[in-house]
Amino acid sequence: MIEEVIVSKQNPVIGLATGSTPIGAYNELVDRYKRKQLDFSKVTSFNLDEYYGLDPSNHQSYRYFMDSNLFNHINISKEKTHVPNGLVNNPNGYGREYDELIEEHGGIDIQLLGIGRNGHIAFNEPADELRLSTHLVDLTEDTIEANSRFFESKEEVPTKAITMGMGTILKAKKIVLMAEGEQKAKIMADLISKDQISTKLPASFLRLHRDFTIVLDSKAAKYL
Ligand code: GLP
Repeated sequence: MIEEVIVSKQNPVIGLATGSTPIGAYNELVDRYKRKQLDFSKVTSFNLDEYYGLDPSNHQSYRYFMDSNLFNHINISKEKTHVPNGLVNNPNGYGREYDELIEEHGGIDIQLLGIGRNGHIAFNEPADELRLSTHLVDLTEDTIEANSRFFESKEEVPTKAITMGMGTILKAKKIVLMAEGEQKAKIMADLISKDQISTKLPASFLRLHRDFTIVLDSKAAKYL
């Protein structure tokens, strides 16, 4: 689906995610580039989120993740890759600028998403209300716990992040959510089998989108 967008658009804009889940897709994109099947020279990318307070050179930052898992291995120009800046002083003003930049590029043609085991997308955590625009967010205990596997200790996991808002994500023309492994089985069953949307399950709002695809492995589909 990503390839389809890249080959069919003049100036393709792709929305990218971090986490373990998209790594297989990124390896595949790198392989296709190496086989000369895919050209990224016209591609612009926007990432969903970044830890607040982490320098881009920090190995746990999402900028570092994207460079090392994808951007360094394909012919995308780095100036066309956008990952929220986790060091800005005015994150909410910055968030509005990030959203405007996406719009100036004509919007996101395809947005790749993973899902948190608590149902978060990007870092939009379950709450009474969800934000529309890119903003600063406090991470939940569950997310800090789940993401601590990438850090030396739980104490090192940042407690805040800058994330695209629900509106930013839902404006993407096409959305693909991927989930794998048993730890996602329960949330995927909730998301797919319930005829409901709820701010307590942020991913459920994706079901309002006209062009939304879910890709699961058999373990994540266990309860379906
Ligand atoms: C993080 C990211 C999300 C991602 C989620 C799941 O919290 N902010 O964008 O979807 O983790 O990650 P994983 O794919 O490693 O399970």
